[in-house]
Amino acid sequence: MSKGEHSESNNFSEIPLARRLSPSGRISSSKFRYVLFGTVFLTLFTVFISINLAPNQSINILTKGRKNIGKISKDGRLLGHFPYPEASTKNLKTVYPGLKVHKNTFNALAKMRSVAASEGIKLIVLSGYRSINLQKEIFYSNKSFRNQIAIERAKVSAPPGYSEHSTGYAVDFGDGTMRDTDFEVSFEKTPAFLWLQRNAAKYHFVLSFPKGNPQGISYEPWHWRFEGTVEALRQFEPANKLQIKKRLK
Ligand code: DAL
Ligand code: ZN
Repeated sequence: MSKGEHSESNNFSEIPLARRLSPSGRISSSKFRYVLFGTVFLTLFTVFISINLAPNQSINILTKGRKNIGKISKDGRLLGHFPYPEASTKNLKTVYPGLKVHKNTFNALAKMRSVAASEGIKLIVLSGYRSINLQKEIFYSNKSFRNQIAIERAKVSAPPGYSEHSTGYAVDFGDGTMRDTDFEVSFEKTPAFLWLQRNAAKYHFVLSFPKGNPQGISYEPWHWRFEGTVEALRQFEPANKLQIKKRLK
């Protein structure tokens, strides 16, 4: 080390750390501009990303905690199905042993079935509330014995955590006089289905998967959901939004 270098080093160490950023002992205005520009850019970038990843508050709530198990599509769907929470057991009511629905669905369902019966229609309930565990069994067991991969299976059955049945608002109907049409598209020809088409909306039941539905799920004339409360409507808001979008096209 030369003498000059030594003395220069000594001088430098006397300059307070915060002022060693430029040879002049000051932060140059061009460096300051870079730092400022970088900070503003990073802030704007973060805001842009959070807005784009959170297009729908309700979906964010429903998918909370699932972000680490894989990529979730922008509107929260998995193989076409929206995520649904499991109904609390205290909100479930028994239609008959082994079959429960949400207490609000229960009242509307009872009324609708009794009016249908008074008009000679035998509207039977084939399926109602399903726990996420039961949906898991349905989705995976059927998949294996029908030799279908998940994409095919999801056209007729929702993955666990993504079925309307878990909410207690979905009901599968059959015609008590034509049991061979249970869970078949031919159910659309039964008196029960024709009656539902004319009357279900009066009791706030909606066909969830009509022909050509925008979720890409197979046509299910037997599967109806109850939308007669704000709570139910909020759960089906993403699905309804998609329907509205399709109608506007
Ligand atoms: N079958 C309907 C899609 C479900 O499993 O929820
Ligand atoms: Zn169903």
